[in-house]
Amino acid sequence: MDNRPIGFFDSGVGGLTCVKPLLEQLPNERVIYFGDTARTPYGSKGIDTVKAFSLQIARFLRDQDVKMLAIACNTVSSVAMEYLQEQLPDIPVIGTIQPAASRIAACCDKTNSIGIMATKVTVNSGAYQHAILKENNDLNIHAIACPALVPLIEEGLTKDTQIAPIIHHYLDDFVAEHRIDTLVLGCTHYPHIKGVIQKEFPGIHIINPSQTLADAVAAALKKNDMLAAQPKRDSIFYASDISDSFLHMMEELSGDRFTALQMEF
Ligand code: DGL
Repeated sequence: MDNRPIGFFDSGVGGLTCVKPLLEQLPNERVIYFGDTARTPYGSKGIDTVKAFSLQIARFLRDQDVKMLAIACNTVSSVAMEYLQEQLPDIPVIGTIQPAASRIAACCDKTNSIGIMATKVTVNSGAYQHAILKENNDLNIHAIACPALVPLIEEGLTKDTQIAPIIHHYLDDFVAEHRIDTLVLGCTHYPHIKGVIQKEFPGIHIINPSQTLADAVAAALKKNDMLAAQPKRDSIFYASDISDSFLHMMEELSGDRFTALQMEF
């Protein structure tokens, strides 16, 4: 049993798509979330910058005495996972890539054509391809960077009329050329527009790494006897800039009560 909170972080509102399924599974848990809304997006920045920003946040969360650190950001997970583990050796660190890679390898075979949509940093890192092929090197994997999506989602422009043209801009040729039948939402912002993507590409099987991260956090807490036993206290959501869309998305999170605090580095 461990009643301390779980730390989640992302460049902005994306990581909220990991927090929601975690709290649905484990309602006694308490989360301390950090969204780096003042410095988003991470996915078009240099690797050293992503590492430096994420270390600042990870240290901040460690100082809040979190029992586990969930990197609710594919960009950070793809280039800074080992770095953060080394820098914070006393806290278990879980990222998005490995749990999703295991799920993909378990549910796909060589007849599938797997498409990963993600940020530029994630795509260029090759982290998804590497982790998936390590589990099954018979799989067909293609990746595409979709850099315009995160800023739109941060602005709350998630209705189909607003975002469907941009989704088609990136995916039409990609899906047709590679005959994609399985699409991985390789950025935690994208589950906010999962319904629109599914509606525009109805025949495609969508895999959601935000859900697999939540599942992996829950499994690790259970396995290590670290579940919270006390009735839940309010989660705390920090952001480096409290924007309207950040507040709006938190309100939608679960109808949960929350405290939003601004934090500067
Ligand atoms: N939500 C993040 C991810 O999963 C970061 C997106 C960004 O800031 O570009 O990659």
